[in-house]
Amino acid sequence: MTWHEGPLLAIESSCDETSAAVLLGRRVLSNIVASQADMHERWGGVVPEAAARAHVDAMLPVVADALTHAAVELDQIKAIVVTNRPGLIGALSVGLTTAKALSFSLGVPLIGVHHIEGHLLSPFAVLDGYDDPPKFPHLSLVVSGGHTELVHVLAPGRYRLLGQSIDDAAGEAFDKSARLMGLPYPGGRAIQDRARAGRASYALPRGLKGETFDFSFAGFKTAVSRLIEKEGDRLNIDDLASSVQETITEVLSARAVAAADSVGAKTMTVVGGVAANQRLRERLAELAARSGIRLIVPPIELCTDNAAMIGLAGSWRLASGQKDDFTLDAFPNAELPSDADEPKLGAIDEGLA
Ligand code: KG4
Ligand code: ZN
Repeated sequence: MTWHEGPLLAIESSCDETSAAVLLGRRVLSNIVASQADMHERWGGVVPEAAARAHVDAMLPVVADALTHAAVELDQIKAIVVTNRPGLIGALSVGLTTAKALSFSLGVPLIGVHHIEGHLLSPFAVLDGYDDPPKFPHLSLVVSGGHTELVHVLAPGRYRLLGQSIDDAAGEAFDKSARLMGLPYPGGRAIQDRARAGRASYALPRGLKGETFDFSFAGFKTAVSRLIEKEGDRLNIDDLASSVQETITEVLSARAVAAADSVGAKTMTVVGGVAANQRLRERLAELAARSGIRLIVPPIELCTDNAAMIGLAGSWRLASGQKDDFTLDAFPNAELPSDADEPKLGAIDEGLA
């Protein structure tokens, strides 16, 4: 797998983080993230219109910060990568417009990438002592506020979706449960903190049963809401936080390891914001070890939304000769690039040292 050589600037603005990164090959020289979490906490979730406006305010300072931290001048940048799908359309447009302007004024190539391809390739980054690139093929559990997917990563650009949530994403299950419990947004971190002092003593539904790699978390949220009503003053928030965390963790870990076993994958990566969850990391490591699977979890700053991962997704595409022009558009929904519509890029087991 080859990477674009010159310093590359990447931009991510698909949801509620404004991020810019500078990469040199797989090495992350800077990865600046301005989060809107505080603003959205007031509303209990992301308000698309407010998110887009906050991206406008944050974008140029974040890009300037990324260049300063990388000690790279703007005119040394050799390519621009941007998330153009899927995401909130207003939010995406801010990043896309900035990327086009930079590409035009610098006279360097532009490429738009799929947000989830960014998450899938995040383990390939080199950053602060982390350098543990998985070999192909491997299995990836993508767990974020918008996605819960099990993907067989065959090669760069060749992704086979094995299963996904048919309703709420795992991160949403954390966020919505936290909101019902009166905990702050984003809820995953708050639940993890409260769960430390609790016992997983409340029974919650695990969603789809049987031989499937799909997930369902909608009933989970309803069950949490009913339990809160039923328990009233007796409710122990720490115990409920622990029960929510244990149940989501168990469902994700068991199904991810079963999916890896089903395709014979010997390596698994966990990516996306929910991969920051300590209990999920522990439980996956236990189950993976039992199945002889090597688990790779990138550092937290690469798990939550960031531009460095977007840079990696654009980097190999540029290195393989792909680029976009200024007709590049933003899309709220988009399928993950798959087997069928990608150029074949050499042997599947092409390893990385
Ligand atoms: O990947 P991400 O930053 O943004 C999306 O693309 O959605 O993921 C955000 C999600 C939120 O739902 C948040 O609650 C969850 O990641 N999250 C966590 C933790 N930290 C963030 N969930 C569980 N435990 C955590 N420690
Ligand atoms: Zn994400």
